[in-house]
Amino acid sequence: MKGIILAGGLGTRLYPLTHATNKHLLPVYNRPMIFYPVKTLVSAGVTEILIVTSGPHAGHFLRVLKNGKELGVAHLEYAYQEKPDGGIADALLLAEDFADKGPITVILGDNTTDANIASIVKKFKSGAMIFLKKISERGLLKRFGVAVFDENNPQKIKKIEEKPKNPQSQYVATGLYIYDKFVFDHIRACRPSNRGEIEITDVNNLYLKKGALNWEELKGFWSDAGTVETLYKANAFWAGKGGI
Ligand code: G1P
Repeated sequence: MKGIILAGGLGTRLYPLTHATNKHLLPVYNRPMIFYPVKTLVSAGVTEILIVTSGPHAGHFLRVLKNGKELGVAHLEYAYQEKPDGGIADALLLAEDFADKGPITVILGDNTTDANIASIVKKFKSGAMIFLKKISERGLLKRFGVAVFDENNPQKIKKIEEKPKNPQSQYVATGLYIYDKFVFDHIRACRPSNRGEIEITDVNNLYLKKGALNWEELKGFWSDAGTVETLYKANAFWAGKGGI
């Protein structure tokens, strides 16, 4: 299994912090943010990693991560997304050659979690696997992809809604996914959403339509760190744990 970390974008929600460097290099307690998703992958046995980045500070990654050896990465590659506002799925398309028709574990560079997904990565065979997290703050739900469950079967996802006005459950799609080789065809079949991005949620809904979407609840702490509030929340959590 290979791993992809999506670390592009302009980090506009964190201006002025992100005028000086890429969002994923800002500190989360004692480490740059990107160290956390790298650790999640390496702990799951995924040590061949591609980082997709973009924007004016893309070069900073090399200085921070070098060849990844210090973090247990066996092979590190970088890809550059021309359109920094192209979105997650557009960035993922750049991983097609790297994936080389094999399965991939994908993680957003601003997601931090202390969950260990090693056993799920090992078991993965085909289709897509998404990781949901129950969120109690209702106000936060509208910022994420939120699962809608079947009324007759609370384990069965009917669809995922991206940033819904009226969230139908408290289960959000975290930025952690495992895909088989068909993910790239599915991305190409999707059209840009209202915010002009190919939505990863649309890709997941395509897998769902084909009966190939599975889900697990992510154990432990999970938060993105892409806004001032969640960057602070992630810092507070990892400070309490003594960092990584
Ligand atoms: C993205 C996804 C969303 C997911 C979230 C997790 O949102 O589109 O489905 O819940 O990451 O961090 P974005 O960060 O692009 O707003």
